[in-house]
Amino acid sequence: MTKSVTTEMHGEIAVIRIDNPPVNALSHHVREGMLRELGAAQENNAKAAILVGRGGTFIAGADIKEFGKPPKEPMLPEVIHQIEAITIPVIAVIEGNTLGGGLEVTLGCHYRVADAKAKLGLPEVALGLLPGASGTQRLPRLLQNPVEALTMISSGRPINAAKAEAIGLVDKVVDGNALEAALEMANGLNNDNLDARRISKIELTMTPELEAVFDGAMVEIAQKAKGSIAPVKAAECARAAYNIPFDEGMKLERQSFLELMVGDQSQALQYMFFAERQSPKPPKDVTGAPRDVKKVGIIGAGTMGGGIAMTYAEAGFPVTILEMTNEALDRGLGTIEKNWARGIKSGRITEAGVAERMSRLSRTTSYDDLADCDLVIEAAFETMEVKRNVFRKLDATVKQGAILASNTSYLNVDEIAAETNRPADVLGMHYFSPANIMPLLEIVRAEKTADDVLLTALAMAKKTRKTPTISRVGHGFIGNRMLTPYLRQANLLVLEGASPAQIDKALTDFGWAMGPFAVSDLAGLDIGYKSRQDQELSEDETRIYTAADRLVEAGHLGQKSGSGFYAYDPEIRGRSENSAATEIIEQVRSELGINTRAISDEEIVERTQFALANEGAHVLAEGVATRASDVDVVYNYGYGYPRWRGGPMHYVDTVGLKHVAAKIAEWSDSAQSVHWNPSDLLMTLADEGKSFRQWDAENS
Ligand code: 3HC
Repeated sequence: MTKSVTTEMHGEIAVIRIDNPPVNALSHHVREGMLRELGAAQENNAKAAILVGRGGTFIAGADIKEFGKPPKEPMLPEVIHQIEAITIPVIAVIEGNTLGGGLEVTLGCHYRVADAKAKLGLPEVALGLLPGASGTQRLPRLLQNPVEALTMISSGRPINAAKAEAIGLVDKVVDGNALEAALEMANGLNNDNLDARRISKIELTMTPELEAVFDGAMVEIAQKAKGSIAPVKAAECARAAYNIPFDEGMKLERQSFLELMVGDQSQALQYMFFAERQSPKPPKDVTGAPRDVKKVGIIGAGTMGGGIAMTYAEAGFPVTILEMTNEALDRGLGTIEKNWARGIKSGRITEAGVAERMSRLSRTTSYDDLADCDLVIEAAFETMEVKRNVFRKLDATVKQGAILASNTSYLNVDEIAAETNRPADVLGMHYFSPANIMPLLEIVRAEKTADDVLLTALAMAKKTRKTPTISRVGHGFIGNRMLTPYLRQANLLVLEGASPAQIDKALTDFGWAMGPFAVSDLAGLDIGYKSRQDQELSEDETRIYTAADRLVEAGHLGQKSGSGFYAYDPEIRGRSENSAATEIIEQVRSELGINTRAISDEEIVERTQFALANEGAHVLAEGVATRASDVDVVYNYGYGYPRWRGGPMHYVDTVGLKHVAAKIAEWSDSAQSVHWNPSDLLMTLADEGKSFRQWDAENS
């Protein structure tokens, strides 16, 4: 087997290269190899050693695939300790992604030279962990500025090389050949005072002023963490660096790291790391290469069309927007410009930047102007009749070989495709509002969608920085379909005695970004009202939404009308109880003859979350989604599901499918039986003592 760490002598300097594609992670053989090669360099009296990664990137961190497996010596903290203790100077060449354990390795080195394009960070908290190989102890010692160190350790956000130089994280930044600069540095070094370069030897002292800084920072970190415990633990370790000696700090860091590693949150976040990388992978039966897309057309300049146009223009594509009237185009383009211009104040974009993006947008009211587009995305009004009409026109005007996509959020893409003479070129590309911000893209692979069309949609997701998931055709695809039973339970719970505010609070405490009633108010209650009317729901189903329907009929449409389930104060943009809504709810309960009862937060969480997962299981069994982890990606990126809980499917795995199945069986046997449709897949997995994760492993 070829070695993943090798040495090349450049005169008296040992250049030690780490070669572990794709990201040079610190797998066991890399840890072993670094010590072996550094030991040899020292023994052979090299003047200095340089650590550099192959492929233009240093080390992206610990090998996440080794997590959960029996640990193998040498462990990373020990490797870093030995690097620091070595008797010849060691220089790290920081290039590409130098992250997590990779950055910690550089902190064990005596000097750091960075390429100008390098990204440096400690992203462990995104995996529910903390820097566990001395990052919480060495970084504060090196930077001396506790706020900068705390920010890097607790936010997980990487910084660029210029910032790294400004805060004292690196000794030199090079716009060119960083290895050459490191060699030059190495040749000029003498190792008389190597101890001064050993970060663990730096002493930190806590002062009352610093205590106050930490107190303030800890409150902010806890708030931003939104229920995730790793950022808080990471910050506590960094704070301890000022209070206890290095060795004790290392013990605290290790213990905290190991505790987090086995916890549910880190397990969920590690699972999501792989889930989001799995989700964009095309199904095994799909072959070929994506088509070339140079120009994009968008039908509709409303909220969705405008957001999608922004997405493509931001990614550098020329975009032609079609609307029915010039007034609609004026409105739509005006909104787009305003949205971009908002970023000028915050420094996200310059005036020239906005002008450049605007110059990528053309406008038209004629389908003929879309003829030369390679991809046209329809974001017109959400009715089948409108969609059919649009696709007939597109079929007649747009060049052959172009991809015709619908942004429908519910409708049957096969039916839309059948309206054209080229159904193989048609698919769904379902964006989430606001489309330029929300990362999810549900790609709907219709019956006749050609492989290269699907691959093009995936490629476009990557180019526009979206996280794609592939769905098959089915009412509401993956995400919106699952929303129905979730909202059904939320509305039933209101009838049974919970208030919208109690439900929203229970679910935001659970970790959701927003509760279902706050979301409904934001979206507009008239939207659900109209969709219920269009669907001709059963009497049982209609009954559940009596209060919501009455609110709309009384003019409470949500935020846009100043009141819905809540009342909204436009001045302070706060929400409070809407007494009119409370009255309507009480009235409806009494008309329906419901004896209300006290409902626990636990029941709220279980009924809504199990309903979500139960529908997710139907979605899987029907083949609408391929993997449970794809369902979880949809909920994380499109619906504000707490990432540290994984997603609805991972969550019920954590709870235990036996318990989930027993509860669903109990509810299906009760007065609310008509509202439950237990999934055979979920029930069978529970019977067999399996999980959705196992199902994924066996089926994909
Ligand atoms: N360990 C194992 N595999 C990794 C990995 C890691 N640290 N980082 C990335 N990979 C794998 C991915 O799973 C993917 O595999 P696949 O092709 O089979 O799906 C492949 O490398 C390429 O990854 P990306 O698709 O993410 O490539 P990008 O170029 O888009 O991004 C990256 C590169 C920015 C390095 C990104 O992969 C990333 O953020 N990686 C994780 C970095 C991280 O979290 N490091 C900290 C680890 S924890 C730690 O170090 C603990 C220590 O403190 C003790």
